[in-house]
Amino acid sequence: MKAPLTTKTPLPNDMEAYWMGFTPNRAFKKNPRLFVAADGMYYTTHDGRQVMDGISGLWCCNAGHNQPRIVKAIQEQVAELDYSPGFQIGHPKAFELANRLKGIMPGDLNHIFFTNSGSESVETALKIAIAYHRARGEGHRTRLIGREKGYHGVNFGGMSVGGMPANRKMFGTLVAGVDHLRHTHGIEENLFTKGQPEHGAYLADDLERLCELHDPSTIAAVIVEPIAGSAGVIMPPKGYLERLRAITKKHGILLIWDEVITGFGRMGKPFASNYFGVEADIVCTAKAIANGVIPMGAVFAHDHVYDAFMQGPEELIELFHGYTYGGNPMACAAALATLDTYEEQDLFYKGTKLWSYWEDAVHSLRGLPHVIDIRNMGLIGAVELESIPDKVTKRATDAFLKAYDKGLLIRTTGDIIAFSPPLIIEKAHIDFMFETMRDILKTID
Ligand SMILES: Cc1ncc(COP(=O)(O)O)c(C=O)c1O
Repeated sequence: MKAPLTTKTPLPNDMEAYWMGFTPNRAFKKNPRLFVAADGMYYTTHDGRQVMDGISGLWCCNAGHNQPRIVKAIQEQVAELDYSPGFQIGHPKAFELANRLKGIMPGDLNHIFFTNSGSESVETALKIAIAYHRARGEGHRTRLIGREKGYHGVNFGGMSVGGMPANRKMFGTLVAGVDHLRHTHGIEENLFTKGQPEHGAYLADDLERLCELHDPSTIAAVIVEPIAGSAGVIMPPKGYLERLRAITKKHGILLIWDEVITGFGRMGKPFASNYFGVEADIVCTAKAIANGVIPMGAVFAHDHVYDAFMQGPEELIELFHGYTYGGNPMACAAALATLDTYEEQDLFYKGTKLWSYWEDAVHSLRGLPHVIDIRNMGLIGAVELESIPDKVTKRATDAFLKAYDKGLLIRTTGDIIAFSPPLIIEKAHIDFMFETMRDILKTID
């Protein structure tokens, strides 16, 4: 482990040129927060402080920071084979990684398409879904169904099936032929649920409504996150995912799980697919696949999906899709070392071992001012605050800034605070996180 930096790092003397994503640029640049080093559970800030990582970077550094095996693998890979094309040429680690991944994903999702981000995984999955039907002679199935409050990245397909108004409203008419299921957030009987909520499975029947409206023969795929992360951690009601699976199967519609945040141990199992025991036709992953160290994503396709493309003359390309950096050697080396790290340190199951301790800690915030709901599953937690009318986001943003000052990194969306710590977390870290949050929530106006 590296010794933490204790000295201050000067701020860049001009911060204007870098246009930051999902950030209020002008406010940030007046009061910047920069990380200059990271190790284990902690970041070091430019002003020489330690900040505990309560959200695994952005839900991606599931093995924490500066894992020696991953660092070494990247260093060695860059010196051996820095880049290889992925079209018409391959390199061994991409095949090795695909084989490792298919062994972790349950069911028959045995074919893996590499991407560089969650957004690209989603675009890839949507394109595969539409092309799959065409390959099978059902080219009339083009419609895509997402869900209100869904988040599937920022590219046009993902934004269109996504259901977060702020992410959509600036960007015109989006992709045509998309519709949305109703969301499952805010069901009163589910408030302060520990684990999976009891009420709301009926909301999956909304798909029947859309089938009636559009006719199932026009629908290519349904995409949802098993747990909606970015909209504020919305857990699937008991029976909901199973019902979606049954309805999609009945109508010949492909089901896509977006496991970009739930993949790689977040649920106390390798994937949400393992946890919920419901198998989709396509699964999108990214984020923690390479511990957030090198950009990477992977789309898992069921055998029947892949097989639909493997028809016709063998010398012809089956899918006109791919990314220059998809499955590049550096990302594959990082991902292989990440999988080794998860396995050696038993991190996929850490969320199961710590489940009840984590659950009690998250729910210990109940009763504090403005707290209107608390939710948890695996190593995920969320606290929802009552919004100030006309100042939605203010309370959670205040909490975020105060937490940062007190040495804890959290993430907010609207007035919901999310926690998703690295899976290397121990009980003492959990105690620090929620003692800090308790102190903060007492002081929020
Ligand atoms: C469920 C889900 N899908 C897709 C994405 C997009 O991933 P990326 O930011 O890597 O493009 C995210 C990112 O948070 C996500 O949570």
